[in-house]
Amino acid sequence: MDNSNVRIQKSPEDSKAETTIVMLPSDANPKGNVFGGVILKHVDLIAGVVAKRHANQANVVTASIDRMTFIKPIFIGNALILSAKINYVKRSSVEIEVNIHAEDLDYNSRVHAGRAFVTMVAIDRYGKPMEVPQLLLNTEEEKIRFKQGEERMKARLREAGKLL
Ligand SMILES: CC(C)(COP(=O)(O)OP(=O)(O)OC[C@H]1O[C@@H](n2cnc3c(N)ncnc32)[C@H](O)[C@@H]1OP(=O)(O)O)[C@@H](O)C(=O)NCCC(=O)NCCS
Repeated sequence: MDNSNVRIQKSPEDSKAETTIVMLPSDANPKGNVFGGVILKHVDLIAGVVAKRHANQANVVTASIDRMTFIKPIFIGNALILSAKINYVKRSSVEIEVNIHAEDLDYNSRVHAGRAFVTMVAIDRYGKPMEVPQLLLNTEEEKIRFKQGEERMKARLREAGKLL
């Protein structure tokens, strides 16, 4: 049988990532509050790792980061813990959910500090968007996250004037 036009599938588990970074004085303002831009940089980086894994190591670029709210402050000396997983795959674009936690390493306490949805697009060597594997959904939770991701993608494309 010819399988040449069957799109391969990868599960969210295949590409998920987690990282822990201790926040330093250079990451924060003089009062010790970590800059939002520093957190965003790490959100962008980890989403890129997940997207690149899913896209079989193709080049990936950030198309959009949904509005981000910082729920709790993060301070110098805290561990910034990011966990990232794919929710939704279209053709060349993928939605990655990044959850942000801050751990106070002196008191062994952890808070949920924020969440971001990042859209990354896989591009070929000419900079043209290229197809990535479909998402293999193994659990009920993954199916729900996919559906919600699809709705968010429609909304963000509408907002960007890309969905008529
Ligand atoms: C992202 C980019 C590759 C899209 O290219 P494009 O010419 O607009 O291509 P298309 O309109 O065909 O869209 C390609 C895919 O991107 C998605 N896309 C485009 N703009 C998007 C947006 N604002 N939000 C979410 N997805 C978007 C499309 O839905 C499409 O997805 P699909 O292939 O899964 O259906 C292009 O806009 C780009 O290179 N942007 C700069 C990326 C970058 O440098 N980021 C770093 C920060 S500056």
